[in-house]
Amino acid sequence: MRAILISVLAATFADLVCADVWWESATIYQIYPRSFKDSDGDGIGDLNGITEKLPYLKDTGVDAIWLSPIYSSPMYDFGYDITNYKEISSEYGTMEDFDNLMKEAKNLGIRVVLDYVPNHTSNESDWFVKSANRESGYEDYYIWADGKLSPNDSNQLLPPNNWVSIFRKSAWQYHPIRQQFYLHQFVIGQPDLNYRNTRVQEEMKDVLHFWLDKGVSGFRVDAVNIMYEVDPSKHDGKYPDEPPSGTPGTTPDDYEYLDHIYTKNMEETYDVVYDWRDLLDEYIARHNESKVMMTECYADLSDMIRYYGNGVRNGSVPFNFLYLEGLKKESNAEDFKMVIDNWMNNMPAGKTANWVNGNHDQSRVGTRHGVKRIDALNMLALMLPGISLTYQGEEIGMTDGSISWTDTKDPQACNTDDPTNYWMKSRDPARTPYQWDGSKHAGFSNSSGDTWLPVADNYETVNLAAQINVVKSHYTFYKDVVAIKKSPAVRRGNMDIRAPSKDILVVTRQLSGNPGFASIINLSDQQQRVNLSAVGLSDRLRVAASGVDCTLEKGAQVTKDNIAVSPHCAIVLTTTAQNANNGCLTPKFFMKPLFMYFSVFLYRYFYIRY
Ligand code: NOJ
Ligand code: MG
Repeated sequence: MRAILISVLAATFADLVCADVWWESATIYQIYPRSFKDSDGDGIGDLNGITEKLPYLKDTGVDAIWLSPIYSSPMYDFGYDITNYKEISSEYGTMEDFDNLMKEAKNLGIRVVLDYVPNHTSNESDWFVKSANRESGYEDYYIWADGKLSPNDSNQLLPPNNWVSIFRKSAWQYHPIRQQFYLHQFVIGQPDLNYRNTRVQEEMKDVLHFWLDKGVSGFRVDAVNIMYEVDPSKHDGKYPDEPPSGTPGTTPDDYEYLDHIYTKNMEETYDVVYDWRDLLDEYIARHNESKVMMTECYADLSDMIRYYGNGVRNGSVPFNFLYLEGLKKESNAEDFKMVIDNWMNNMPAGKTANWVNGNHDQSRVGTRHGVKRIDALNMLALMLPGISLTYQGEEIGMTDGSISWTDTKDPQACNTDDPTNYWMKSRDPARTPYQWDGSKHAGFSNSSGDTWLPVADNYETVNLAAQINVVKSHYTFYKDVVAIKKSPAVRRGNMDIRAPSKDILVVTRQLSGNPGFASIINLSDQQQRVNLSAVGLSDRLRVAASGVDCTLEKGAQVTKDNIAVSPHCAIVLTTTAQNANNGCLTPKFFMKPLFMYFSVFLYRYFYIRY
């Protein structure tokens, strides 16, 4: 009887105690290890460089870092071509360096999230070499297909079909040993794994276990929606051609030339993601934290949100690329509201939203939206509900570097074979080294030679040292808003978004019993008067964070119905402090009654028996 009572009580308590789902309102900072900090002077960023800078990230207030791939790789696609998923790239350090990074991060309370690249390995991986040699058990690890004889020349073997790589040109490469073609949706050195082979699925799960056992807090999953191709057994054992998309200005070598009905968004993908979620959830009890999974999928909204789960099974947080791609330099406040509402209204109930301002594949905010909108975009991603993603350098307003054709390293740009227009495809400008200070190589490296990509030209003025202890700077503003994001109203409160005009966007966060916040963006180059009467909050408000273009300074008091917001100002206002209560029942809360219950139980047990 007692046992039953105790288990019922324990289960009830376990439900009431807030599980550590830390990521639901986290600020996650993406590190591109190659460009963050070089500790050994070879011009390439590395793990010890990251460890050295962890105190900076702690001070900034980020909850977690996501590291772009750190695994062994020939670096044809800068780490997204992995030779061994369980080994550290020698350019970036050793496993000992990784363990040390984990230890330091744990000491500081920063979680570590890793990049997980399931779609492809490097063509130098053992698995691929074995598969090319048809070694038993490995024959079907990759997507292999016979070539077609050329109708014009019987000595010429053509690729199996017309599929095109995302990086241009045929997605098939002939392998002389195996005498077949293999599929590569990116560079030739990135053969696609075959997810119709359950052994491949098991191997990849094993990779997740390996890093989870090392204590990482989750994964960002690369290129998830191209993991499956059409099932050839349903097409006479062949991979059928894809139809042309009709996209103007494209040639058969361009990825956009085809409509990718056989190479992406296949139905089978979702279950694999849900399986990974189950695997990650095994660690909730073991590590006393929920692991985050964020999936990279550039697709329509309906395909994207299916990654969240299907109502029965849980999935991942799909990156909100509608936000990233839907907002442009020209977007006005109504466009912002529409793009934000679109995600909030279509995301399944109870799931976590997320706001992606940039990443290592996209032009930087200051270049894409213009430098006048840097604070606005940084603030918005932090004030909206859910996960905020910051790509390294956005907190100091870095802009795209200009990289000449000869300095170009990105395979996507090199594959254009076009020294004039390559820049349209190049991701190098967003990957230039982090600008720590105004010294040589922007303090990124003490190399006597070059850095792997040149530092952006503006490093002498745009750098962390110039912003870190300054009242008005992108960094100070970012840090202030990161701190505000940790308050109960922003973590769990209601969100109200309105565009009182095309120039003004207001996002308000409120939670009863806690200070509320209103963030205002003036997108125009005129001062605007804003009336917040309709949003609630108190009549008098205080400036909690003030962007570089705001004349209202931190600490200033304003009256809610008439706030003068200077051109391009991004600002956060708050009510005055009330009883802060994070609303969670902590384990401590239950300690006393539990202890009392067991004391009575023990007393009665011994008293009755003896
Ligand atoms: C997406 C990554 O973000 C990108 O950098 C990479 O080139 C491709 N996936 C291939 O892994
Ligand atoms: Mg180095």
